Amino acid sequence: MSIKPPPYTYDEFQVGMRLRSQGLTITEAHVVQFAGLTGDYNPLHVDEVFAKNTIFEGRVAHGLLTLSLATGLFAPLVAGTTIALLEVNVKFLKPVKIGDTIYVDTEVVDKKPSNKYNGGVITFRLEVKNQRDEVVAVIDQKLLIARGLAVKNNVLRQ
Ligand SMILES: CC(C)(COP(=O)(O)OP(=O)(O)OC[C@H]1O[C@@H](n2cnc3c(N)ncnc32)[C@H](O)[C@@H]1OP(=O)(O)O)[C@@H](O)C(=O)NCCC(=O)NCCS
Repeated sequence: MSIKPPPYTYDEFQVGMRLRSQGLTITEAHVVQFAGLTGDYNPLHVDEVFAKNTIFEGRVAHGLLTLSLATGLFAPLVAGTTIALLEVNVKFLKPVKIGDTIYVDTEVVDKKPSNKYNGGVITFRLEVKNQRDEVVAVIDQKLLIARGLAVKNNVLRQ
């Protein structure tokens, strides 16, 4: 059986399709660079002495870092076929700590053709899991996906 490599087009995504990403180990560098990039130096993320005395008993990754890294793990599926990211809803269920390894289980939950663009809106549910297969975050996101490469001439209906 041959499986087409990503990215996938609007027509290739089918409701119920599930795809698992590669894993990614969260490092000190991820947390420190994300703090620097965003300016979010909350002691929960950057002060080990403070964080040890919290309910997490140590530093945790920023929730938005987990969201961003999960998006990166998902990204190859839609690299080149995305017209635009439309909507993101996320729940953070368990802490992600330095040294944890996350991966993303993606499910296609809905698709609706667009009248305006040559493609349609696809709703994806991304379950972000750790090395114990615990779900640490659930991301529901909608993307406008093209029927081919998402260049202007392909996606704008005449
Ligand atoms: C995406 C964008 C170009 C759409 O603009 P637009 O064409 O004026 O928007 P419309 O409201 O006509 O939406 C286009 C279609 O998407 C659908 N849509 C838009 N947002 C949606 C949402 N959150 N949920 C479901 N459907 C949505 C609309 O119903 C419409 O469907 P139709 O073609 O069948 O009528 C514009 O909103 C934009 O530039 N947003 C910023 C996107 C972005 O920067 N994302 C991050 C980087 S990729």
